[in-house]
Amino acid sequence: MAIDLAVVPVAGQGTRLLPSTKSQPKEMLPVGRKPVVQYVVEELALSGIHRLMFVTGPGKVSIENHFDTNWELINFLRETGREELLEELDFERRSLEYFYTRQRRQLGLGHAVLCAKPLVGDQPFVVALGDSIIGVNAQSDIVARMVDRFEQEAADVVVAFEEVPAQEVVRYGIARPATPDQATEEVFELADLVEKPSVEEAPSRLAVAARYVFAPRIFEALEATEAGKGGEIQLTDAIRKVLADGGRGIGMRLQPQERRFDIGNFGSYFRAFIEFALNDPRYGEDLRAFVGELVDDAGGSAGGEED
Ligand code: G1P
Repeated sequence: MAIDLAVVPVAGQGTRLLPSTKSQPKEMLPVGRKPVVQYVVEELALSGIHRLMFVTGPGKVSIENHFDTNWELINFLRETGREELLEELDFERRSLEYFYTRQRRQLGLGHAVLCAKPLVGDQPFVVALGDSIIGVNAQSDIVARMVDRFEQEAADVVVAFEEVPAQEVVRYGIARPATPDQATEEVFELADLVEKPSVEEAPSRLAVAARYVFAPRIFEALEATEAGKGGEIQLTDAIRKVLADGGRGIGMRLQPQERRFDIGNFGSYFRAFIEFALNDPRYGEDLRAFVGELVDDAGGSAGGEED
């Protein structure tokens, strides 16, 4: 695979997760045992990415620390005879290269991606949003499949999509496949995209699922993109521009086992945590019994009359 560079925007302020994100990045919130962003990096590594460029913002230093080698901690574990815990730090030793740049003004996701231009330059690259995990325990090679398509079809943009219930289209970038019947296909021609449309305006129920592959021409489009939805420079609008200028766009649906876990709001964060914790090889079984009892109790008190 030729593309080995991913840009990971982690600059958002996580306002939908306050107060837990007041002094820590949402990307460092744990889902089961690991912080969200570690799953994202592990998924990308599985897809052949070696270089990761984080676009950070204020208060995001703990992300940098997380991927750095912490010798003090390693030595402490060795000296105190707790070598077995060292394997929890194995991810530090992966042969990945990390780069960090700051988005100095919060002007939106499109602007965050544009901040990576000086490093990326004239090469195709992946964008993976740092607040979304694909698949339970990030067991997905969607990015590798997207990169293959990108190369085979000489595309300019490949975007991952997930079908969402009609009322949820308002939260995402929504695809317009080239023909309506393509909306059910695994791979489709992407004709257009709309950022957070109303339910009535939505051209489909296929929502942008936080993974993209771009030819470098996306940067020109981003430079020409003005603030859109929410007063922000939207990545979706730059993709539209590339498509409108004759660029080739491909949409790829996530497979059923590759559900997207969005950590951007409490509803989906709670669901992600519960599902990962219930699947934990060490604690999952106990937890399933515990949650089962809780649910039975809650069901008993709420629906007692009907039983
Ligand atoms: C961003 C994108 C949107 C996409 C979503 C999830 O929105 O603008 O198109 O569907 O991520 O991947 P945000 O969640 O930052 O509002």
